[in-house]
Amino acid sequence: YLAPRSGATGLQKLVISAADLHEGEAKFFEYGGSSAVLIKTKGGEMVALSAVCTHLGCIVQWVKEQQHFLCPCHGGQFATDGTVLAGPPPKPLARIPVTVTGGNITIG
Ligand code: FES
Repeated sequence: YLAPRSGATGLQKLVISAADLHEGEAKFFEYGGSSAVLIKTKGGEMVALSAVCTHLGCIVQWVKEQQHFLCPCHGGQFATDGTVLAGPPPKPLARIPVTVTGGNITIG
């Protein structure tokens, strides 16, 4: 889990250091009382998503080798932008706004 610099509770903004995340990595954190994840894609884009599967609500896992998310419950797969790649999930993972300013990543 990421260690927030501020705004650890509720739907307040979360600010972390961009240096904490490398390309191809994902980090999970608490956002608005549920699980969320921040990804830095291999192309360098920062994306934050709800980590709650849109099928029946299990928490997705990051599969670094394949650069996608896998839901352990029924095999749903999601791309780094949240879109459904395979399995039963009916819709994409919800996106959370991300702003990168200097060395800081602001989520929410
Ligand atoms: Fe995720 Fe069913 S809860 S695939």
